[in-house]
Amino acid sequence: MRKAARARSVRLTCSIRPTDFLLSDEAINGRALADIIIANPPYLKLNKSDERASAHAYAVYGQPNIYGLFLAACARLVDATGRYRFITPRSWLSGSYFAAVRRQMLHWLRFDALHVFESRKAHFSDDQILQEAVILWATARAEREPNLDILVSRSQGVADLGAATVTAVAFARLVGADNERMIALHGEQEDAFHRWSDTLATHGLRVSTGPVVAFRATDFIQSHVGKKTVPLLWMQHVRPMRMQWPIQKKREHIAAVEASAWMLVPNQPMVVLRRFSPKEAERRITAAPYSGALPGATIGLENHLNYIVRQGGTMTVDEAKGIAAFLSSELVDAHFRALAGSTQINATELRKLPLPPMRQLVEIGQRLLVHATLAQVDSLVEEVLLRDAPSEAKGV
Ligand SMILES: C[S@@+](CC[C@H](N)C(=O)[O-])C[C@H]1O[C@@H](n2cnc3c(N)ncnc32)[C@H](O)[C@@H]1O
Repeated sequence: MRKAARARSVRLTCSIRPTDFLLSDEAINGRALADIIIANPPYLKLNKSDERASAHAYAVYGQPNIYGLFLAACARLVDATGRYRFITPRSWLSGSYFAAVRRQMLHWLRFDALHVFESRKAHFSDDQILQEAVILWATARAEREPNLDILVSRSQGVADLGAATVTAVAFARLVGADNERMIALHGEQEDAFHRWSDTLATHGLRVSTGPVVAFRATDFIQSHVGKKTVPLLWMQHVRPMRMQWPIQKKREHIAAVEASAWMLVPNQPMVVLRRFSPKEAERRITAAPYSGALPGATIGLENHLNYIVRQGGTMTVDEAKGIAAFLSSELVDAHFRALAGSTQINATELRKLPLPPMRQLVEIGQRLLVHATLAQVDSLVEEVLLRDAPSEAKGV
């Protein structure tokens, strides 16, 4: 900057402060009113008890990442006519942990433009998961003017920046209206759903509702293991991407006898989903793969669950893992969020949902880590499914 200023006969005074910005008086008290903030903040997960997370608790929701604190803290430091430019990983756009950051940013700033670098190679890496970068251009919302269209552009990297097409997207289409304020770059994600022509039915799969209606099955449901009991799964046994049984909480056994046979299903690999998700759930779909490993030839599924099995056959464990991961992913969550009003995803909606080809679902299942977090699920699902997107095929 010194060199560039000198070449233009501009006097530049600068100071470099080797202090922690997030603990500075300016950042904490929101005092420095800047004409422009240009930042390439550090990128690392912080402990919730880190003093920087405590100092910016207004921007913390779940596990904080230091770059989110920079995004939020700087949003309120911009002067009435000031500007704001940030280059960061793209996860703040939609990750649930960034909800408070997004709310803070949208309170103080008007978003003008977003550029997405679609190649994951060059920019940020987190636990070996490569992330794409985004640049945000924003202006202070001095007079609380209404949000205007946001210019969205994409390129693979810096080399093809000149060829990037710029699209004006209505604020309401890009930014979710609910409290999460997710920013969905529909283009690539919705394109994926349009490209897929498969559904559960074309994949030979079937979604059904758990046949055990508790009050009608009181004669069979038990609190303890018996000679003829098999596991009975309730909503409480199904966590995001994880089944847990027993949990010693529920009447979680059911007698497998002739009179109850019709309400039991073959004990084999399947995807189990909650039919109702609590309001505070991170995703609209809570799904877990089930490998068929619990004891018994049959298994009970309570009526608040849906389950997906192979019609007239057996699903493989990789298929179950891949389908559960896809349904649990942010990609599917954003898709359902975009369809106004659907907070609970019922079997009809699952039957209509476009699905990727089975080979991709199986690849996701094969590569899924044991005890994968939703963030890891998201990265893997995106990597496998958006990798083949036409917009990327013509790139590197
Ligand atoms: C991604 S680098 C960007 C460096 C430079 N701005 C650039 O664009 O080339 C992030 C920088 O933030 C600094 N940094 C990390 N934590 C910080 C903090 N709490 N306060 C101030 N600077 C910090 C790091 O030392 C690093 O130089």
